[in-house]
Formats: sequence, C-alpha cells, structure tokens
Amino acid sequence: MSLLRRTFFFPKSLPLFSHTLHFLNRPSLPKPTSALSASSSAAPSPPQTLSPIPKPQSPSLLWVPRTALCGELSADDVGKRVTLCGWVALHRVHGGLTFLNLRDHSGTVQVATLPDAFPDAHNAVNDLRLEYVVAVEGLVRSRPADSVNKKMKTGSIEIAAENVQVLNAVRAKLPFLVTTVEDAKDSVKEEIRLRYRCLDLRRQQMQSNVMLRHKVVKLMRRYLEDVHDFVEIETPILSRSTPEGARDYLVPSRVQPGTFYALPQSPQLFKQMLMVSGFDKYYQIARCFRDEDLRADRQPEFTQLDMELAFTPLEDMLRLNEDLIRKVFLEIKGVHLPNPFPRLTYAEAMSRYGSDRPDIRFDLELKDVSDIFSDSTFRVFADTLSSGGIIKVLCVPCGAKRYSNTALKKGDIYNQAVKSGAKGLPFLKVLDDGGIEGIPALTSSLDQTKIEQFLTRCSARPGDLILFAVGHQTSVNKTLDRLRVFVAQELDLIDDSRHSILWVTDFPMFEWNDMEQRLEALHHPFTAPNPEDINDLSTARALAYDMVYNGVEIGGGSLRIYKREVQQKVLEIVGISSEEAEAKFGYLLEALDMGAPPHGGIAYGLDRLVMLLAGASSIRDVIAFPKTTTAQCALTRSPSEVDPQQLKDLSFQTR
Ligand code: AMO
Repeated sequence: MSLLRRTFFFPKSLPLFSHTLHFLNRPSLPKPTSALSASSSAAPSPPQTLSPIPKPQSPSLLWVPRTALCGELSADDVGKRVTLCGWVALHRVHGGLTFLNLRDHSGTVQVATLPDAFPDAHNAVNDLRLEYVVAVEGLVRSRPADSVNKKMKTGSIEIAAENVQVLNAVRAKLPFLVTTVEDAKDSVKEEIRLRYRCLDLRRQQMQSNVMLRHKVVKLMRRYLEDVHDFVEIETPILSRSTPEGARDYLVPSRVQPGTFYALPQSPQLFKQMLMVSGFDKYYQIARCFRDEDLRADRQPEFTQLDMELAFTPLEDMLRLNEDLIRKVFLEIKGVHLPNPFPRLTYAEAMSRYGSDRPDIRFDLELKDVSDIFSDSTFRVFADTLSSGGIIKVLCVPCGAKRYSNTALKKGDIYNQAVKSGAKGLPFLKVLDDGGIEGIPALTSSLDQTKIEQFLTRCSARPGDLILFAVGHQTSVNKTLDRLRVFVAQELDLIDDSRHSILWVTDFPMFEWNDMEQRLEALHHPFTAPNPEDINDLSTARALAYDMVYNGVEIGGGSLRIYKREVQQKVLEIVGISSEEAEAKFGYLLEALDMGAPPHGGIAYGLDRLVMLLAGASSIRDVIAFPKTTTAQCALTRSPSEVDPQQLKDLSFQTR
C-alpha cells in the first residue's frame, strides 16, 4: 500500500493513528484465537461466567451473545467479566500493549491486551483494522490514574481482553474515516457521504441526529396520544393529486392503462375526510412527495407531523400546538419558549420584515419611505412611485464603513440584491456629522427637512448604511428580506442563544399569479376565509397560521371550509370550474354535504424541525436516506432506468 493510500485512511490530523500504520499492511483476516474454543451452540451463561465466544468457522455466521454495551460501562462495573460487540473505532500500539476503542450504538470503550496472560487475544487485536466487527470478552478494570481519559464517558475504565473474535472484516477500501472528530463532515464531500451512507450514519454526529429525530417523534406521539387522545391513522400513498402547490410524482397504473396515481403532497383531503367520518383528533407521521426545486430545507420526499381536529376553534388549535412545540423544545433542548408565542399578522410581517417567515432574533426592520420621496426629482424613484410602486429601506447599523462603495456597486451584497430580482442597489451613507452621502441625484433630491424626516424614519445614526429597494411591493420585500438576512449574518447580528418563535396569521386567502394571470390560494384552497371577510372572498383574510422558528417555516395549517357552497366558490376563484372541481374533488364536495363538522389542522415539517433542534445546516443531515440536491438517491442510484418489459406492462411505448 502506498503512503498516499495510508494517509487517505489516516489523516495526519489524527495523531494517535501514527502508531497504527503498520496494521494497514495486513490484508489477511486474523487467525482464530485458541482461547475461543467452545462450540457456538453453548447456552448463554450469566454475566460472571460467560460462555466462551465460539470459534469462527469462516465463512460461518456467528451471533455472539453480548452482555454489556460499550458506552454504558462505568467504574461501577470494575471486576465484571463482559462480552462486548462492536466496531473497531481506534487502534494503537503503546509500550508493547495494543489498545483499541470499541464502538457500538451506545458509545465507545477502550480495550487493552495482556500479551503474557492472553497472547491469542493480543495477537488477534494486533491484526484488527478500523471498522472490523468484533466480539471482545474480558474483565472490566480501572485505568491507571495517569491514563484516565476525561474526554471519554468511559474514560476511567477499560476492558482487559481475554477472548477476541472477528465477526466480520473490512474488505473494501473505506472511502472515509468513521470518526468522532466533529469536523469530519466538512472534510468529506456530501456526495461521497450519501453514496456510502451506511458508513456515514455510523458517525457519532449522524447517530445522534437520527436518535434525536426518533426522540422528537416519540415525544410528539406520546403528547398527542396520551394528553390529547389523538388517534394515528394511515392514509394512502397511491392516491390522487392534492393541490399543495408543487408538481406531483406520478405512478402509472398497470391494471388501468393510461391512468396514474399521484403520490400525496400531503394527506390534506384524507384527513378532512376522517373528520367527516367522526374521528375527532387525527394525526400521522406522514410521508409527503413534492416535485419542486430543492434547497437545504426541502426534499422531494419529506415527513410531516400531520394533524386534524374537529370542533376546535382557532385559539384552542394554536394553544394546543404551542404546548406541543414548547414541550419538544424543553425536553429536547432544555429551552423555554415563550407562553404564548408572539404573533404577527401577514401584513405586519411583510411590512416590517419583508417576509412571512421573519427571523426576529435581530431587529433590522424595513421602513416604507415612499411618502418622503413623493416629490423626489430622482428619476428612478419618481418613475417607481408614478407607476404604483413603493420605496422601502433597510438601515444597517454601522454599515457605512463595513461596506465600501465598490462592494455596494459590485460586491456580494450587490449580488444578493440582484439575485433577488432587483435591478440595482441604491444606497446612502450617514456621515459622522449627520449628513448623507450617496448618488448625487438621490441626495440632492431631498431638502434638509426631508433628510431629517428620512433619517428619523430610519432611526439612522452616523456611520449607518441605508439600502433601498424600489418597485412593486412583492419584489421590494423580496429584495430587502434577502438583504436583511444577508447583512445580519455578515455583521454577526444574530444572537444564537435567542430563539425566535412566532405565529404568522391572517394570510390573504389568495395571491396573484402573474405568470398564470390568475388568483391562487396562498395556503391551499380548502382554507377557511375569515368570517368577517366573507362578503368579498377574493380579498379575504384566511384563518391560516404558520409557525416560524428562527426564520424557518416549521409548520402551517388552517381552519377549513366545511360547507360545500363556500368550497365551490373558493375553487371558482382559483380558476377551477365546477366540472373540474367535480372531477378532481367531487369526493370532498360530496363529503361536505354529508354532515362535515367544523374542523382544522396543521402539519409540521418534521425534517426541518429536527434539523433546527439538531443545529444541522441541511435537512439531509437528519434524514437517514435523503435525496441529493438533484433528487437522486446516491446509495441506490434511483431514479433508474427500468426493464423495457416493465414499461410494456404499464402500457408505455418502448422503442
Ligand atoms: P405545507 O405545504 O405548509 O402545509 O407543509 C407543512 C410543512 O411541511 C414542511 N415542508 C417541507 N419540508 C421539507 N421538504 C419540502 N419539500 C417541504 N414542503 C413543506 C414545511 C411546512 O411548514 N396540508 C398542509 C397542512 C395543513 O393545512 O394542515 C400542508 O402540507 O415545514
């Protein structure tokens, strides 16, 4: 093996491995140890008189009864004879002895050899390589005071190996180290980690992410079932399209040629059906499928904690959900979230932060200054206002020196504005003497009174930078939202110890889709309008609510329309004719006519929630087998081509 290959296995950053390099040159499997002589059929004995580990009869398969877990041993176990099973996590020679760290799902413990007393075990350990699967039988003993490892939970003890059995060897070249080193993740490309996911999932960080996910789900189940009598009900995966706003994944039917199932974007209509059926409180850990552009917090296949409740008014719905999320944060992270959660209406959130999922761990509020520039001679502003647009600003504290004029004209901050769709990034700097500096045509368009009014509106102080966005409200908000988050990250304005949780409420029922030139439902078309706005549904506010944590939408839901005539009207507004409505949602309309109770619900993005709880930067890090950013499974290499015969069976044309 070349030196190059060795360093691939053992980076220099792991100094302990320098003692072990010679083990890499031993490709052969370890010889069976003579101490392991009893037959594999020996009955398991109590821990103190363990049955010897069976002799390997390669390539036989062995199931060694283990008596303890690596990470659970402590000084209390000193003197006990144990059998452990696990992976070789670390391996080193020191002063004629060989040590290894043995790892199982519970943690790691050190194993030492006694060359004189148990030479076979010593030899067997010498022959091990990283990630071999072994069974070790031995005595738990205290480590000498000078070799106690305070960084290790089991660092005060070790196992003196008497019998060592290799249950399986590593015959393939490991693409990366399974290590407890925190930054290992960053040094290995994600595509390699996903390709060799079983190895990646062995890493401590990934183990703890997956376990955290399990704990969150368990806690949610317990809370919903035991405290509130929710019932878990499964809904179909092979189904019809539901309009959640993304493209569907389609599955062709073999027995009904030319027809397709759609994988559910959410169980929305099924859970509404269940309410009509009289199941008072439903929940499901539901797999959802959406064929949409992927981001760090989006997957084509993701999981929701989905719920629906009958006869539950809005305030009760919000309270129950706040209690649930408060419990999750408290029990999982020890974090006390506020009671009640703050609320922002959609209009307020958009006006103050330019976003319906604002991160309020930092201030940086947007200000509308259209009125101040109403008679501005600055051409860009005047044209914007005369065509019905608005002018909004973001005041960046102490940003004047931090961002040079060049950066503002072609640097990262400028690029952020452009990426959001802005045509440019007008700016002003507040000088130390309180004056303003910027594009002459802009600064000269304000007289002293207006300057003062402007600076007061922005709460600007000397040294601040003021960024402008002009145009239609939607695009202005989009630009300033992006700049707000960018600047907060760049200037380190986000206090990580704070937790920003809030409800955004009072969404409009509909928004204008410019591309399709029609109104579309902002949530989904089954959302109930606010009864106060029932007379003009097209401008009505919805009884919808999103839960937002640190700028991420973790859940969203609404009270639903439970009367047919209102549902039909809403479908009409979003351009679904009564014939189309009948064809697509006839079963819903029918159900609404059969005694549908008032109902509503919510769904959380479980992956997103766990990502935030785990402090991970991507939901892929909290999903055991996620898809890549190009919607592929790197492990199984799906999607894949299929056998032509399969296509024929599905009545697809094949060439
Ligand atoms: P919504 O579409 O808002 O509502 O979805 C609910 C939550 O699911 C998460 N989410 C996603 N997570 C990962 N990848 C995705 N592609 C993805 N898309 C959405 C978000 C979101 O808040 N049926 C309604 C719920 C209801 O009204 O009860 C629904 O699905 O965290």
